[in-house]
Amino acid sequence: MTTILQLNASLSPQGQSDQLANRLVAALLAKQPDAKLTVRDLAAQPLPHLDAAEVGAFFTPAESRSAEQQALVAVSDGLVAELAAADVLVLAVPMYNFGIPSTLKAYFDRVARAGVTFKYTETGPVGLLSGKKAYVLAARGGMYQGTAKDSQTAYLKDFLSFIGIDDVTFVYAEGLNMGDANRAAALAAAEQQIALLTA
Ligand SMILES: Cc1cc2nc3c(=O)[nH]c(=O)nc-3n(C[C@H](O)[C@H](O)[C@H](O)COP(=O)(O)O)c2cc1C
Repeated sequence: MTTILQLNASLSPQGQSDQLANRLVAALLAKQPDAKLTVRDLAAQPLPHLDAAEVGAFFTPAESRSAEQQALVAVSDGLVAELAAADVLVLAVPMYNFGIPSTLKAYFDRVARAGVTFKYTETGPVGLLSGKKAYVLAARGGMYQGTAKDSQTAYLKDFLSFIGIDDVTFVYAEGLNMGDANRAAALAAAEQQIALLTA
């Protein structure tokens, strides 16, 4: 049975990234009705910034962790288990101030765990979450795809690859704040791409 993990991050109740992710997931479920869907809304239930206490807990051997450290690691362990169980990852990613939402960064900070989701070898890092397919639904007010200003795409590819997820497909909805015509065309193109991807 396929397991789909959808991560939403929009601060808007009508977030376009969330809506495009919903569309993609609906199409995936239509093809695989027995697939299991988990939706994690990082905006509605934000994780705090990673701090020294939590990093310290990660690097403390399990048998030596205090009760507070065990509780901190348990949050990360739960997120890692949820991610590890997913066959398909659907990331709804608004662009905020030229980057990903800080809530998504806080999530990444919890699932990048040495010895758990990646390891370093003499030849470099090796991601341990292999065999997954990821989709990124990228919603942006402006237009950056293919330019040096699109730091999101390279960052997301690098991060996902670091933990072993190399099969990543991006769907862009750009120019959403550049007038009604641009917005409508961008959303129609994104929806068409989703339809092709799930045909
Ligand atoms: C706080 C904030 C920062 C934003 N920064 C950018 C930006 O740097 N570049 C851009 O193209 N659009 C920016 N936008 C516009 C959003 O990317 C756009 O509204 C997009 O639709 C957000 O995704 P959503 O509809 O899923 O919430 C920003 C919007 C907000 C609310």
